[in-house]
Amino acid sequence: LLADYGISPTHGFLPDTLPLTRLPDPYYNKWEAIAANLQALILSKRLRGVVDRLPVLSTIGLEHDAEWRRAYSLLTFMAHGYIWGGDSPSDRLPPSIAVPLLEVSRHLEVPPVATYASLCLWNFKPLFIDEDIDNLENLATLNTFTGAIDESWFYLVSVAMEARGGPIISLMLSAIAAARENDAVTVTRCLHGFAERLDDITTLLVRMHESCNPTVFYHRIRPFLAGSKNMADAGLPNGVVYEDGSGNEPFRQYAGGSNAQSSLIQFFDVVLGIQHRPTGEKRHPGVESERQGHAPPPKHNFIMEMRRYMPGPHARFLSDVQAVANIRDFVESHRSNRPLCLAYDACLSMLSALRDKHIAIVTRYIVLPSREVRARSRSRSPEATRRKVNLATASRQPQGIAYDAHAAASKPDGHNKQSNLKGTGGTALISFLKQARDETGEPAIEQW
Ligand code: HEM
Ligand code: ALA
Repeated sequence: LLADYGISPTHGFLPDTLPLTRLPDPYYNKWEAIAANLQALILSKRLRGVVDRLPVLSTIGLEHDAEWRRAYSLLTFMAHGYIWGGDSPSDRLPPSIAVPLLEVSRHLEVPPVATYASLCLWNFKPLFIDEDIDNLENLATLNTFTGAIDESWFYLVSVAMEARGGPIISLMLSAIAAARENDAVTVTRCLHGFAERLDDITTLLVRMHESCNPTVFYHRIRPFLAGSKNMADAGLPNGVVYEDGSGNEPFRQYAGGSNAQSSLIQFFDVVLGIQHRPTGEKRHPGVESERQGHAPPPKHNFIMEMRRYMPGPHARFLSDVQAVANIRDFVESHRSNRPLCLAYDACLSMLSALRDKHIAIVTRYIVLPSREVRARSRSRSPEATRRKVNLATASRQPQGIAYDAHAAASKPDGHNKQSNLKGTGGTALISFLKQARDETGEPAIEQW
């Protein structure tokens, strides 16, 4: 069953076959050579020239899915390096990337941009093959934009979390089956196991600080993760044209890479019956308008949208599980079963705690560095003016610096609100994340 959805019983949404460290067919050596030198090519600003001269390679030489996944990862690194690796962003992707990337994406049912799958799920290797991959000390990345260990660490923390969380999938599928059989003891036991692993996962998350420096993350890494949607401030007002030679080449817009595309975390929500509403929507929306006989207009639901950035089979798995998820109802109909309710509540509070730690990370890695940039460009000393000019130049560079410098430069009177700040996925960061955290606690059963 899990295999049908491309899910591993031990490693969850990480592939059962380890990611390939290179494409076996020498036909693809040109891609491999670029990827192997990606950091140097970006640093020397020579990537665009190299990609512009690269021939359009066919996908015909890709056999197993592991090869398609490797191709996808390579091409998305090249694409984002191409778009964001110059003095100003490129609003076109040449055929040498666009053509194969569109084909590979169609085959794998992923969007043709850097996603959690291309950056994390399909971009790691174990250092020692006989040791497990839920251990950060046994992981390395395959591709990076910068070559910085901070960037590798950023991806690998997620990989280790996915691996550690993998077994929760089967565990909680048995809980669903047990609930159907009215077997409260088994449901309780599964929930205990779930809560314990959630705690482990949080421990891995907070290890982000060990080797990923916030300044490096904000200024050097994050700009490359940016997408092409709502990126006017960063110099991409229309999105990106994928030159596929079809004659019909509209501007396309995609959200940037974000861990909100992790199927594992969404699985946790689905299985526990946690519902995430569109940002800004309160718990019981639209009661008034329903009474008046018309439903409120559907609002944008970011977390649901992110499913379209997951590999197709993983997204299908989530909606299929959603259709059978019964744990919350089961617990609610067994309110007098105290151990069961406590075990369920433990999962909710572990998941809220995970989201709390994540919010602290976002504050340290995005909010504070962005404030520093703004503060620097606001002050009026000649030194600051000179810096501001530099920052204004930088505003044509990728997001991060770009957003803030832009806001600061255009509104030097200090009215720059945090609201300009966006996640790479496109959310308003903290307010979005706090709502997601609060919704995690909501269905709490333990009310006495
Ligand atoms: C969402 C930043 C690491 C899981 C987000 C968002 C931001 C963010 C800004 C909002 C969505 C967007 O607009 O992109 C960061 C930063 C990280 C980091 C700065 C590290 C430096 C992680 C890791 C995980 C993770 C390691 C674990 C897999 C999530 C999830 C969401 C999210 C699940 C969706 C919101 C939710 O479900 O609560 N992250 N993130 N993040 N992130 Fe992270
Ligand atoms: N989603 C993360 C950010 O906004 C990566 O920086």
